[in-house]
This record gives sequence, structure tokens and C-alpha cells, in this order.
Amino acid sequence: MSDTSGAMDSQTRAKRNAGYYAADMIPDNSIVGLGTGSTVFFMMERLAERMGEGLRVTGIATSFQTERRAYEYGIPITSLHEHDHIDIAIDGADQIDPQFRLIKGRGAAQTRERCVAAAAEVFVIVADEGKLTDWFTAPVPVEVLAFAVPIVMNGLVALGGTPVIREGVKKDGPVITDNGNWIIDCTFPHIENPEELQCTINAMPGVLSCGIFTEFTGKTSIVVGTSDGVEVRSL
Ligand code: 5RP
Repeated sequence: MSDTSGAMDSQTRAKRNAGYYAADMIPDNSIVGLGTGSTVFFMMERLAERMGEGLRVTGIATSFQTERRAYEYGIPITSLHEHDHIDIAIDGADQIDPQFRLIKGRGAAQTRERCVAAAAEVFVIVADEGKLTDWFTAPVPVEVLAFAVPIVMNGLVALGGTPVIREGVKKDGPVITDNGNWIIDCTFPHIENPEELQCTINAMPGVLSCGIFTEFTGKTSIVVGTSDGVEVRSL
């Protein structure tokens, strides 16, 4: 593949560096969880290159977008029905705190991303350094059954949040997820206890999954891309 990194802006170069580094962490003959987003795309680009050199892997995609990209790159795809154990999952994040807790879901894929992370032995997050934060400020995406949206909105307001239904782009009305549900983006003035907030939101009737990920820190490594390299962090 040709090297086009010189023409990229520094954030894109950082994503590419993180994605390429993580692809090189994938062992031969493994089942790989394929996350969603632009940084994961770079990981898949390098993975396809490695497969051309003889690496054998099978992927489990966390979104239609990733699945389509895998078909383009010739990465074979399987499902949790065939493989309920994943050797390594590689995914992006919207914010990462010092304890490796995450906010995910800008791409509305957090429910499948959580399932894949849960099934994985090793969870690798690929991100540019702009994703690192001391405390969460990003809105928390929440995937919700359309039927239950009003009561979940009320519940989020009761928690001190400001919920907004995510609207489609080039589609009137709400975003419909790959699972057929809606997304509510909820801003909180201050997230004091991410674990508690995650559990409270995920327990609301009608919620599939929110984008706060606190349960995988023990198996998480972070590959932080910069414009000229990477820094790998583990706890
Ligand atoms: C999708 C996600 C993405 O992994 C996250 O938004 C990061 O995306 P990008 O690498 O494009 O910045 O959680 O639901």
C-alpha cells in the first residue's frame, strides 16, 4: 500500500500511527474484535497489509460500517455465535481517563462494541492524544428502544443530565442504530462516579447500552498516537 501519511493533518497521522501499531499486535490465527471509527479503519488497513504477507485472522465486526470495510479489505468475518471467545479486540474511544475508563459511542455502535469487548481476552484502545482527559466532558451516548425514549429522557433528566435525541444526517428524524434503536446523547455537568452512572443508566428499562465503559480497565491497553509515533500505556 502506498504511504500517504505525509499529506495528512497531524490528528489523522496520529490516528494512523495508533491504528498501524495496534494491527501489528495481532497474533497469527486469532479471532479479532473489530471496533468502529476512523482510527480502527487505519488498523484494518494495516491488518489487510499483514494478511497479504500471510497473517491469518478472522474478525468480528462491531458495526455495519466495519463489516463493509472488512469485506472491502478481504478480512473474513465471523460472529459471536461461531466464536464466543475473542483473542484481541481493537477499538477507538471518544474520551479516555487516567484509569482507562472510556466514553464511546460517537458512531452509535457502543452496544455491539461492549459485547465484543466483554468477549475479548485483551482490549486495545487506539486513539489520538486529543482523546485523553482528566475527567469526562463528552456527552454520553445511550442506545434506547424507540418505545422507551420518553421514560429514558425523564430518567436522564432526573440524574442531572441534558438529554438530546441524536438526529440523522441526510436522513430526517432520529438516527436509527444498526440494532434498530435510537440514540440519546446526554451531557452531564460533572461525572463524579462513572461506574455508578454507567450502572444506573444501563439499568433503565429500555436502555440497551450507554457509552460509559468502566468494566474493562483490567484488560485494557491504550495505544496513543501522536503525529510522529505512538505511546503504549497499560495500568
Ligand atoms: C463508535 C466509537 C468510536 O470507536 C469512537 O467514536 C472513536 O472514533 P474515531 O476513531 O473515529 O475517533 O465509539 O461508536
